Amino acid sequence: MSPIRSVTGMNDLLPPATTTWSSLERLAEDLAGRRGYWRIVTPIVESTELFARGVGAGTDVVEKEMYTFEDGGGHSLTLRPEATASVVRAYFEGGLHDGPQPVRLHYIGPMFRRDRPQAGRYRQFFQFGVEAIGESAPEVDVEVIELAYAWLRKAGAPGISLQVNSIGDEVCRPAYREVLRAHFRPHLDQMCADCRRRFEVNPLRLLDCKKPACAPFQAGAPAPVEHLCEPCRVHHEAVLAGLRALGLEFQQNPRLVRGLDYYTRTAFEIWSVDLEGAQNALGGGGRYDGLAKELGFADTPGMGFAMGIDRLYLALRRAGHSDLPPRPDVFVIPLAAGSAIAGQGIAARLREVELDTVLSTGARSLRSHMRAAERSGAPCVVILGEDEIAAGEATVKNMADGGQSRVRLDALVAAAQAIQGQADHVRQAQRGADVGAEELDPGTPRRKAG
Ligand code: HAM
Repeated sequence: MSPIRSVTGMNDLLPPATTTWSSLERLAEDLAGRRGYWRIVTPIVESTELFARGVGAGTDVVEKEMYTFEDGGGHSLTLRPEATASVVRAYFEGGLHDGPQPVRLHYIGPMFRRDRPQAGRYRQFFQFGVEAIGESAPEVDVEVIELAYAWLRKAGAPGISLQVNSIGDEVCRPAYREVLRAHFRPHLDQMCADCRRRFEVNPLRLLDCKKPACAPFQAGAPAPVEHLCEPCRVHHEAVLAGLRALGLEFQQNPRLVRGLDYYTRTAFEIWSVDLEGAQNALGGGGRYDGLAKELGFADTPGMGFAMGIDRLYLALRRAGHSDLPPRPDVFVIPLAAGSAIAGQGIAARLREVELDTVLSTGARSLRSHMRAAERSGAPCVVILGEDEIAAGEATVKNMADGGQSRVRLDALVAAAQAIQGQADHVRQAQRGADVGAEELDPGTPRRKAG
């Protein structure tokens, strides 16, 4: 029988990568929380209709990338390909629309799209996203974009570039679509099959097709910003002014359109120059003032983004970031027969002063226990041999310099703290040289040696 393997495009996250991963999530929660974006958790499975209507039936995501199945009751369900539609649904279902507006929310979690797997594109991937619902003012757009940028910058993302555009709304877009069709119509037979199909349903997507055959016809295409109605133009100008006031560098990208149908007005992406090709977008978002109505709720504006955690991690690795392996502070070896319980008591005392402690297990030789201690990476090892137990003592070994001494059990905590403090000092100095440096601390804040 062959061993069972994981599903194509769905990856395990293993240590030490998970240490960086957890740091990125903590940083996201911290930055979002400081700006009043509270956490929301919505189900991973939703009614298929939520995405068909929300994301749009003509999008790649809905047309070919959804994991859809029938549940027992003949109801069509889908693994969420994104979370904005779910958050808007939950905002109304949970009565958040009744309180003060805007409601600011953030989420971190897995999304599912059955796309062709490649570097930076997976079938299960993780997003950090935020949604500010119930306010149409342009300062919300600025606040949301700033948060996305701050997370990437603080994480140490290499070579990031903010791309901003406005794609208008239901007032100005219908006329613009016609202008666009008039531009592309004469060239359609030379363009790719996707563009020919999108020409009717969503001609804006012709602007960002990546196929070389289509490039020559995109060059002279009319840009959405040139066809905005007055309210959309004023909104766009205010967003750009707000970004400038914050000192955020950005590029106005007239060809930026997003792959999901719900966007109105502001559309933005943040790219990393270190990630090539179609996967260079670390994240993106924009305004979706028509989404709530499309889902059958009261007309309510919204603005948000989602950043790909997998892609940020990939960009950090390519820029030389190395994961700090998780390691305990103390490794306890209950060597003497019957000392396992005593070892657990000592470990409990060490953990009380927040020294992360791991116990060696099994009846093994000292050499074998020491090999496990080295592999754990703990800077301090505590050995409970026959002699030590008899004398009410333990041997404490400093793994950095090999020095060891016998200490009474009541002095053990202080001895372990001293060794751990020295090791932390060295580690912090090493971390200073790393990408993403202080922001990506893999563990809980450390105490000073005491
Ligand atoms: P999106 O552009 O479809 O937007 O996805 C946002 C980010 O998720 C992408 O830029 C990328 O980093 C990551 N991502 C998407 N697909 C994959 C994949 N197959 N593998 C790895 N990473 C991926 C949205 O999802 C919108 N809900 C964003 C939003 C929130 N707009 C308003 N609010």
